[in-house]
Amino acid sequence: MSAGGAGATPAHLPVLFAEVMEGLAVKADGTYLDGTFGRGGHARGVLAKLGPEGRLLVMDKDPEAIAVATRLAGEDARVAWRRGSFADLARWPLADAGLDGILFDLGVSSPQLDVAERGFSFGKDGPLDMRMDPESGESAAQWLAHASEKEIADVLWMYGDERQSRRIARAIVQFRRGDTPLLRTAQLAELIAQVMPRGDSKIHPATRSFQAIRIFINRELLDLEAGLDAALERLKPGGRLAVISFHSLEDRIVKQFIAQHSKEVYDRRAPFAAPQPMRLKALARIKPGAAEVAANPRARSAVMRVAERTEVPA
Ligand SMILES: C[S@@+](CC[C@H](N)C(=O)[O-])C[C@H]1O[C@@H](n2cnc3c(N)ncnc32)[C@H](O)[C@@H]1O
Repeated sequence: MSAGGAGATPAHLPVLFAEVMEGLAVKADGTYLDGTFGRGGHARGVLAKLGPEGRLLVMDKDPEAIAVATRLAGEDARVAWRRGSFADLARWPLADAGLDGILFDLGVSSPQLDVAERGFSFGKDGPLDMRMDPESGESAAQWLAHASEKEIADVLWMYGDERQSRRIARAIVQFRRGDTPLLRTAQLAELIAQVMPRGDSKIHPATRSFQAIRIFINRELLDLEAGLDAALERLKPGGRLAVISFHSLEDRIVKQFIAQHSKEVYDRRAPFAAPQPMRLKALARIKPGAAEVAANPRARSAVMRVAERTEVPA
């Protein structure tokens, strides 16, 4: 399936497309939020199921994704867009009346990875940026120019599980003392490759570090936690939440969030008081099949969890 409408940038194949549609169980007159519009692959699927009374709210941090969303909204009055993090979805007045379904398809899109100028890829030389929103916060190069050795090592370890985190952090700080500023993805990838012990791993030695720096720069896990809380506030009873994760740190947060809200909460100080009712019911955990992974290698690490907002009000 083509993501369409993206102009000259590479397309993005939506992951677990049929499963997302089934998980959201789109009602023709419902209001849905796609918090990670990307190139709109999933959003267009939701639109195709909505009737004239339905609404689709879309968000993305990335101005290029929002440019595609703006065009879609121009063609279809049921669509509204907002540039920003889904962590702020509860601040969007259009979501105040409640949502029948919410999708977060986490991480980066193929166009972000494939366009060297975005600076996400160790395989393509470009400016060391990595921001989903290039107009907000520090770029990877700006952060690496001042972060302490310990901060860098902690980020590589926490968000990339990089066992050589200290060695890489030391190399970055030493490189900074030289004459050449660290400004390009290829410089960083080479620097990491030089200090990594030679192993038989098939993945590029910079894979984990690039992932870690990207997660840190974009506050991805903090946004996910805030986005899940906001989603719970805005979902109507019976509304569906579908979240696609691409690594274990994200999936753990989603899993624990759903588990935490899928049980009644007793107050230890008031043992005879009625428990707080559960707010979510876990419905599914789905991974792509072999055919999808063969057609779209990016789907390889995807895991989708689906939950339903219970009928009991908060
Ligand atoms: C995997 S892609 C989504 C692809 C989309 N489902 C499609 O079918 O085209 C992830 C998108 O979410 C955006 N994104 C990631 N985290 C975000 C956040 N916290 N708030 C808003 N957008 C975010 C990225 O900029 C990227 O465009």
